[in-house]
Amino acid sequence: MKTEGVVQNVPFTGRKRSLIEDARKERASSSSSPGPSQCGDNFVFEGKDGTVTLNILFTLSNEKNAGFLQTGKVFETFKAKLLHIESRPGRKSKNSLMELEFFMKCEIHSSDVDVFLNSLKRVAEDVRPVQEEKVPWFPRKINDLDKCNLLITKYDPDMDQDHPGFTDQEYRKRRAYISELAVNYKQGDPLPTVEYTPEEVATWREVYRTLHDIYPSLACRQFLEGLQQLERECGYGENRIPQLREVSAFLKGKSGFQLRPAAGLLSARDFLASLAFRVFQCTQYIRHASAPMHSPEPDCCHELLGHIPMLADKEFAQFSQEIGLASLGASDEDIERLSTLYWFTVEFGLCKQNGTVKAYGAGLLSSYGELIYALSNEPEYKAFSPEETAVQPYQDQTYQPVYFVSESFEDAKLKMRRFSAKIQRPFSVRYDPFTCSLDILDQPSKIQNVLSQMREDLKILHNAIEKLG
Ligand SMILES: [Fe+2]
Repeated sequence: MKTEGVVQNVPFTGRKRSLIEDARKERASSSSSPGPSQCGDNFVFEGKDGTVTLNILFTLSNEKNAGFLQTGKVFETFKAKLLHIESRPGRKSKNSLMELEFFMKCEIHSSDVDVFLNSLKRVAEDVRPVQEEKVPWFPRKINDLDKCNLLITKYDPDMDQDHPGFTDQEYRKRRAYISELAVNYKQGDPLPTVEYTPEEVATWREVYRTLHDIYPSLACRQFLEGLQQLERECGYGENRIPQLREVSAFLKGKSGFQLRPAAGLLSARDFLASLAFRVFQCTQYIRHASAPMHSPEPDCCHELLGHIPMLADKEFAQFSQEIGLASLGASDEDIERLSTLYWFTVEFGLCKQNGTVKAYGAGLLSSYGELIYALSNEPEYKAFSPEETAVQPYQDQTYQPVYFVSESFEDAKLKMRRFSAKIQRPFSVRYDPFTCSLDILDQPSKIQNVLSQMREDLKILHNAIEKLG
């Protein structure tokens, strides 16, 4: 059921940045680039520092070990970092004892691959890279997020002539100063503090007041509860822009999420990857004072009002993390599908509560005009279904013509999990909250370790049930 008779609609002005468009551009640019070498299709786990992991099979004569020593020289020359080695009797020779077949996994600079393989062919027989699926680089531990900082600058005030701050040199200088704090940030550093000016606080106040008035009738229960907690425990209010440091500490205690400063709009792949670690990349600058109700790029009003109250909810936090986990090592096509899902859920999602449709998407909860429009009788509603949502055309020039309504976050999470399981990857991932790193479940021994941990958890549950009688 839609909420009717709400405040008068506000027409849409300006554009919105979108992860989907970024993902589409990345896909287009990667498909037109030549790749690192003629053997590019054989790589596994591309490195972000220009290295690739290469799997190679080759055969050596067993006589005098000469070939083995020469092979070692090739590895030494190209500074190939050996990661794994196996050997077995050669299968092609009539006298298998005379030959050994080697499997090696090594890390090497991508520009050296072709010369490296040619050098190997001079000292070994039957050298061939093992055909494996190409997996784009992704962070394995939380500190790797220092590398997830690819910025999309098309909507920032230096590049976008339609940005309200484009002609305001002072604003651009201020925006650049705050962005610089994020650029210099490293995981584990204290989150930077910004002393906001009275003009910036006035912008925040106008946004806060305007939205605060309509939240009770249009926002979902989890958002309202989160916002009340933030007002009680975290200094949220119209007279002060909250600092990322205190908001991050608050979230950590509520749902395990933490913040990381972002210098601007990030690439879809980098942004989604951080969610896998329960890290939300958050801008700290504020929109231009001339347009308090609209920003073409994410700013602290959008993040602190739209996203943060929802991230305090455990169920929603889990849902967000699952989108992030599904994105790791995914193909560019799947990143585009996941970005679309993110757009229609985390940014523009609606859900049913007590027979009424309410908003939970941050793009709605930080936009007075679209929040009212989305919950009026104008747009079309569809039931949330990841397969359909992931390919729904989106709109960034005006309000969305279609919104997706979830039965509940639990329902959305289960559907999302089923969708993620179908994403083609040669491995599964699991987040380890103790080490803030990922378990790549690509070997039986690793799956065995996870099972052992689960057995310990089940023992605790069993014990608890017994105590309850
Ligand atoms: Fe957002």
